[in-house]
Amino acid sequence: MNNKEHICVVGLGYIGLPTAIMFAKQGYTVTGVDVKSEVVDTLRKGELHIHEDGLAVAFKGALAMGGLTFSEQTVAADVFIIAVPTPFNKDKSADMRYVRSAAEGIRPVLKAGDLVVLESTSPPRTTIELVQPILEQGGLKAGKDFDLAYSPERVLPGRILEELVSNDRIVGGLTEQANQRAKVLYASFVRGTIHCTDPTTAEMVKLMENTYRDVNIALANEFSRIAAEQAVDVWEAIELANHHPRVEILRPGAGVGGHCISVDPWFLVEVSPERSDLIRTARRVNDAQPAFLVSELERAIGPLAGVKAAVLGLAYKPNIDDLRESPAIEVVHLLRNAGCEVRTFEPYVPDHIAAEGVMACETLPEAVKGVEVVLVVVAHDEFKALTAAKLAELVGKPGEAGFTVVDAVNILPREQDGECRVVRLGVGK
Ligand SMILES: NC(=O)c1ccc[n+]([C@@H]2O[C@H](COP(=O)([O-])OP(=O)(O)OC[C@H]3O[C@@H](n4cnc5c(N)ncnc54)[C@H](O)[C@@H]3O)[C@@H](O)[C@H]2O)c1
Repeated sequence: MNNKEHICVVGLGYIGLPTAIMFAKQGYTVTGVDVKSEVVDTLRKGELHIHEDGLAVAFKGALAMGGLTFSEQTVAADVFIIAVPTPFNKDKSADMRYVRSAAEGIRPVLKAGDLVVLESTSPPRTTIELVQPILEQGGLKAGKDFDLAYSPERVLPGRILEELVSNDRIVGGLTEQANQRAKVLYASFVRGTIHCTDPTTAEMVKLMENTYRDVNIALANEFSRIAAEQAVDVWEAIELANHHPRVEILRPGAGVGGHCISVDPWFLVEVSPERSDLIRTARRVNDAQPAFLVSELERAIGPLAGVKAAVLGLAYKPNIDDLRESPAIEVVHLLRNAGCEVRTFEPYVPDHIAAEGVMACETLPEAVKGVEVVLVVVAHDEFKALTAAKLAELVGKPGEAGFTVVDAVNILPREQDGECRVVRLGVGK
């Protein structure tokens, strides 16, 4: 391993920053680049702009090594790692402008012998049909003058630092040489196995993993709808079905969010629209789940106009501060559109205004006091101790007719159902 190699990490978000820190901790000289000056300024001050477990300590350690600096411009280096966003457009097509601009930023400083690795989740063929041509416009040839690879990031938010090290990694090099170089590079901190393939297979692997999750969650969500209609408790039914040695049904919920699982399947639909019926349908099932939840509430209590409601949790999954594509926020919008007066409480982002006219509360008691409906939409640890009795006390209206709880995450213990009306996702009466 050549620890003297200079690595330029382009994009310093949830993926780029921890990756830059990992390399810096291995003794590499690392320049972290971000187009947002406020991100660069914050990091230069030794502060963080994102929250992730263990990141502050790791960042301090990397800075102490002396090789980690930050810049708003891409600088000459031996290795370039692209970790910029790949969101989708309104029509669900991949928005590749950040990848394009990152590649365009590398082109003027790219020299013979360099290695470029794209990590951003991308539609199949992005490395060879988008990134490679942009880089080659400078006159150098990929596979001959410089090395090019795709290596998807597959970490779980909340456990990024741990999984960067422990997960297996896929490297898709344009050539065998690119594979070997990228493998040596990542092996400096990756303890999982590094599997080599070609760029397009590596792109496809990442999309298949997230699509697999999305389709399986859609199945659980569809089961929740059928169970409610059949007077079955879907949570019990799933638990029993999962005793089968070859069955592992996931948990239903308010929908699917985040900028990975709810986005990536569309990249496959975009490139193969005629061959992706199941993937498209699963996306639609999951996208419609917030509306299903609100319709279940309406079925239980009647028209929602004028109803005071508190939504507990806005993040797209438990115990994180990430609100991107969150189904909980869609629930808030639907309640507002139905005429509800909505308050929210998100312990990880207490000041977030989810929609116009919605009051963001700093505390749970403030959010639920005096409401007619409480919706528990995210299974944050902070909500695990909630019971119907505790909520009744905070709301101030005990008794079945007093208020309604919508439990989308199966968090409330069943014994206290008499304390209020409980609408459990996937549970038919
Ligand atoms: N966050 C995750 O858990 C996760 C997991 C797996 C894969 N991914 C993928 O990794 C990629 C990066 O995701 P993220 O969560 O780190 O995004 P992010 O939004 O947290 O950070 C991306 C950063 O890139 C910067 N940027 C945009 N264009 C730039 C450019 N041309 N040059 C320099 N900087 C630029 C942005 O300002 C931002 O700070 C995406 O493709 C995402 O799908 C993310």
